[in-house]
Amino acid sequence: MTPPRNPFRGLRAVVTGASGGIGRSLALQLADAGADLVLVARSRDALEAVADEVRARGTTASVVVADLATTDGVEQVVTRLAGSRIDVLVANAGVGAHGPFVDESPERTATQIALNCAAVTALTHAFLPGMLARGVGGVMTVASTASFQPTPGMAVYGATKAFVLSFTEALWQETRGRGVRVLALCPGPTSTGFFDAAGAGSGVMARGRQTPDEVAAVGLRVFARAGGPTVVSGAGNRVTANAHRFVPRGLMARMSALVTAG
Ligand SMILES: NC(=O)c1ccc[n+]([C@@H]2O[C@H](COP(=O)([O-])OP(=O)(O)OC[C@H]3O[C@@H](n4cnc5c(N)ncnc54)[C@H](OP(=O)(O)O)[C@@H]3O)[C@@H](O)[C@H]2O)c1
Repeated sequence: MTPPRNPFRGLRAVVTGASGGIGRSLALQLADAGADLVLVARSRDALEAVADEVRARGTTASVVVADLATTDGVEQVVTRLAGSRIDVLVANAGVGAHGPFVDESPERTATQIALNCAAVTALTHAFLPGMLARGVGGVMTVASTASFQPTPGMAVYGATKAFVLSFTEALWQETRGRGVRVLALCPGPTSTGFFDAAGAGSGVMARGRQTPDEVAAVGLRVFARAGGPTVVSGAGNRVTANAHRFVPRGLMARMSALVTAG
């Protein structure tokens, strides 16, 4: 039997937020599939360590240290990669903030919107035209099960992920039939540094977390077969993500608050 064609072999993929968590897993699994990597995040040492892991898998890796919550940081990535062939963008970097919105600092709110929404949009705008011109590769965004309903206690975060989902599904339709793949990967609670970085207690959404490797594998499997526009990782998470179809919006917000409270 002929093995399925590996759509990643020889492609060059940019993975944002590749210094740890889901982004690191996505980068390493892309390397396993034969892709060359450009790894982006703020922490140089952690990125260099992931780059070494990529190279040990037999492909190439370069590192771009940038704060994607700033327009300068996004510009730096775009400028650095201008003129080079980028086949796949994995727009994974993202942060949340846990707690009541009124207690959230304006800076923390702005960072979530800048990183989770503006950077995803700007990087896609920079790299998608080349993919369309060549008719190869595509864009995977990392949204969330939080994309599907409001998330009281993480109000801004949930709203940014709703943006990512809407943006990605619209792009999927705009680009259909033009040789590129577009997919929103929607993880549920996953064992990474995310909850610590969000200032959530250790009990928040602690039960049934997936591993970042499991989440990455789901995303890349669906991306490889040009599925989409959306995949939710994990059977339980698919139930959660679809609950909004059957539950009135007010009740959905109340139920969601119980989840984010821990
Ligand atoms: N973990 C979950 O339960 C979960 C669930 C649903 C969706 N997600 C989404 O999955 C994605 C990855 O999160 P994760 O769970 O892997 O969290 P994580 O372990 O905290 O990783 C976040 C990554 O983003 C990078 N990053 C953070 N701020 C950045 C900035 N200003 N500029 C550039 N890079 C930045 C971090 O690297 P540096 O600190 O080195 O910059 C790190 O590589 C996020 O979009 C998140 O919203 C996570």
